[in-house]
Amino acid sequence: MCGIIGYIGKDNSVNHLIEGLRALEYRGYDSAGIAFFDTKQKLNTVKAAGRLANVEAMMQITPESHCGIGHTRWATHGAPDDINAHPHGTPSLRLVHNGIVENYAALKEELTALGYTFESETDTEVAAKLLDYYYVKEKLTARAAIERMTSRLVGSWALGILFADDPGTVWAARQGSPLIIGKGENEHYIASDITAILSRTRDYYQLDEGEIAKVTRSSAEIWKDSKPVNKELKVAHWDIEAAERGGYPHFMIKEINEEPTAIRTTLHSRIKDGLPDFSGDGFDTSVLGEISRMHIIACGTAMHAGLVAKGLLNSLAKLPCEVEIASEFRYNDPIVGKGDLVLIISQSGETADSLAALRLAKKKGAATLAIVNVIGSSIAREADSVLYTMAGPEIAVASTKAYSVQTALLYLLSVEAGLVRGRLSREDAAKRVSELYNRAPEAVAEMIAREKEIETVANKISGCEDLFFIGRGADYHLAAEGSLKLKEISYIHSEAYAAGELKHGTISLVTPGVPVVALCTVPDLYEKMVSNIRETKARGAETFMICGADTEVAEGTADHIIRLPEISPELAFLPEVCALQLFAYHAAAARGCDIDKPRNLAKSVTVE
Ligand code: F6R
Repeated sequence: MCGIIGYIGKDNSVNHLIEGLRALEYRGYDSAGIAFFDTKQKLNTVKAAGRLANVEAMMQITPESHCGIGHTRWATHGAPDDINAHPHGTPSLRLVHNGIVENYAALKEELTALGYTFESETDTEVAAKLLDYYYVKEKLTARAAIERMTSRLVGSWALGILFADDPGTVWAARQGSPLIIGKGENEHYIASDITAILSRTRDYYQLDEGEIAKVTRSSAEIWKDSKPVNKELKVAHWDIEAAERGGYPHFMIKEINEEPTAIRTTLHSRIKDGLPDFSGDGFDTSVLGEISRMHIIACGTAMHAGLVAKGLLNSLAKLPCEVEIASEFRYNDPIVGKGDLVLIISQSGETADSLAALRLAKKKGAATLAIVNVIGSSIAREADSVLYTMAGPEIAVASTKAYSVQTALLYLLSVEAGLVRGRLSREDAAKRVSELYNRAPEAVAEMIAREKEIETVANKISGCEDLFFIGRGADYHLAAEGSLKLKEISYIHSEAYAAGELKHGTISLVTPGVPVVALCTVPDLYEKMVSNIRETKARGAETFMICGADTEVAEGTADHIIRLPEISPELAFLPEVCALQLFAYHAAAARGCDIDKPRNLAKSVTVE
């Protein structure tokens, strides 16, 4: 998703803009650009399709500048080319934008009738020219012009703006897309998120919906509805080390390695006297005993974490639960309201569909809870209650540690629901919590220690183009996540199938040599899985099995076997997902893929 950076201060702004954009690369982008004032106070723009290096290459020497804005663009309106890259503008201003202007076509028509012409296909250029109209033609002040312009936009935006006649100011505005203001010593930044400025400062103001900010070297003034807003200066606790690769070849493998610690950190403050305790989150868990149904709404990997939770809430708390894809939920006129708890799961806390689903659930009168990683993100702020996962920044586009901490936290929540609903005794609950906190992170670490073994197995499938993951019960949901991970980073097409469903059509695709990865960690379903593996073997499949540490596997059942470390089947999902992540990682590495930034994908999906 697009990234925004802005700088005004004593240093060279161009260096800070490039450094900030580089830190935002993890969000995914396909073009980049900067606008800055030079020493003659002239406003310059440099932008190019492709990587940030193309922008740098266009400036033979770094120009002297103390004020500028920059952008990485993830194409929505128009191809990822030089012209559509941001900044956009007119001789009087430059503007960068994250989000979507939904009514841009109507506004473009209106501006065309007023004599404006357009060189790009973007909605952003329309916003820039609309701003020009109010600033230059209507002669409004900068702030009034931004207010008028944003009042005409329908959609979402985070904006960074420079006016040619005011080289000492960066303007910013936010509606629906995240933006923060960083405060340094006699300098200020604007940024899409804290990772862009973490190497420079930890102090920041969070811009809220509908706010407009004027940022100079020495001040950051903020308004909403034309009235000044006083903001609390926040301090980011993420350290720069955590936002860098720390010696690993990719962020993805670094983040997989962080899973044991991230799980413990997420759980630590929520366990008291050996039992779950969410009082520190201000979440009153008695609601879990009052509701008739829980709805879990999320996208992608976060939705797969929800599927694991559905099984746990069913088995541990007998709490009916539905899991829905956010983009489907919001348009399906969902039957949800008073008496329901809607849980939104999101690493970024900014996913547009998940945020819209949250707003819809609130409008319909449901109680809402969010499980979110990014502190202060939109979903975290708008839900009735929030449980933060403490995974630290997740930079690789493919989500790994976020899923592990989400599912670990959801397990704890399910145990709590079991207690509240009288389905678990305190002894049962304490036993489970102890294994979750003491054993599960160790088991994940042991899985990671066997990376080489998984790499060898992954190398066997790296040349294939189609593959199946099959599983039953909890393993079916793990199969979905294993399949998503593999396809998004290795570009190997794969399908996740409920093992019993394969023979109802899809087995026609299993031909000699097609790999089938069978997840067999549910003891009660093991024999059924073995039958399904046999069905695929009979058609010539190359079979891979993931099973428990002690599972007795008869000779010749599968061609390759990966055993999980010792752990009870109920918690097998934690080392198991780790194995699947490593499997996907090494398959992608063997194929030479751009693992941290897979094609066409963005880290934070803030558009529909
Ligand atoms: C896949 C992946 C995505 C995200 C999805 C939701 O590896 O990362 O499927 O899980 O885009 O993102 P969040 O959790 O930020 O709402």
